[in-house]
Amino acid sequence: MQFLDDYQRIVAEAIDKYTFKDKPAELYEPMNYIISHGGKRLRPIMVLMANDMFDGELEKALKPALAIEFFHNFTLIHDDIMDEAPLRRGKPTIHTLHGVNVGILSGDALLFKAYKFFEDLEPNLFKACMRVFNHTGLLLSEGQQYDINFETKGDVTFNDYIRMITYKTGILSASSFEIGALIAGANFTDAKAIFNFGKHVGIAFQIMDDYLDVFGQQESFGKMHAGDIVENKKTVLYLLAKEHATEEERKELEFWYSKKTDNLDKIYSVEKIFRRTKVDEKALLLIQKHNEIAQHYLNKINVPDEKKKPFIELANYLLRRDS
Ligand code: IPE
Ligand code: IPE
Ligand code: MG
Ligand code: MG
Ligand code: MG
Repeated sequence: MQFLDDYQRIVAEAIDKYTFKDKPAELYEPMNYIISHGGKRLRPIMVLMANDMFDGELEKALKPALAIEFFHNFTLIHDDIMDEAPLRRGKPTIHTLHGVNVGILSGDALLFKAYKFFEDLEPNLFKACMRVFNHTGLLLSEGQQYDINFETKGDVTFNDYIRMITYKTGILSASSFEIGALIAGANFTDAKAIFNFGKHVGIAFQIMDDYLDVFGQQESFGKMHAGDIVENKKTVLYLLAKEHATEEERKELEFWYSKKTDNLDKIYSVEKIFRRTKVDEKALLLIQKHNEIAQHYLNKINVPDEKKKPFIELANYLLRRDS
């Protein structure tokens, strides 16, 4: 998509320009390593898109957009430690290459670099962005803690799951749009509507991420196949399977999710139940549902329809089955 390529180029150039050259290299090189492997850079693009929607200046939004990408990468480094993930963006994770201590520290340093990128904003805007940013960080931490709690909690409900993914993923895409809108000077109502659009796109995106863990292609997904099954994650696939399983299958699921192991029998047996209960189709329907809620909020925004088109295209791009 042309407009996405254009935004991606802007973000890539800015990221190159701000490559970390500080010392010690043992701290900063891993930060450059994860950031330079790209990823889709969706969240800084969301900042820039919202800024454009409300006729903001690119120059003013660019550093805050990078701040959001640094913050996102900080969460990924720590998430991979917590999830014991070997692969990220098709490359070995930082903690597997350099150990957990370097993973913790380079993640922390990325967070502080993110803060510094808000410093140029004028005081009122700085304060407004800090409020959104800090609130996002706290909710994301709460979501990550729920995610960990659920690994060993037997009775996770569907509402528990939706709250967990809203906090760990939905709020960051919501806030990325909101920060872009605030920098452009959008009014409160429009900023909230674009926030809610981003929240539901983010929820749909996390459901897709859970789906791709099992049904995606590892080469394009860039993460270990079935990592969520190994880690006993109570993903949408697990919850839907449990709901639609026979009594015997339910017992089998509970048996496998009581042990943390990458034993192939576990992965094979769980995937078999996922397929039998057709959770793939059900997850895709849920994604569609949240996409529609997102569109509903987009419709409320007081700008010409022409300006909304890229947002519809972005949502469709995110929710393809191979990202
Ligand atoms: C990964 O996000 C974390 C989730 C919320 C699922 P992305 O899939 O946007 O990661 P990158 O930045 O493109 O690698
Ligand atoms: C993503 O959850 C949430 C954050 C990184 C904050 P996951 O643990 O599912 O993300 P991936 O699949 O490792 O990217
Ligand atoms: Mg993870
Ligand atoms: Mg995780
Ligand atoms: Mg995941």
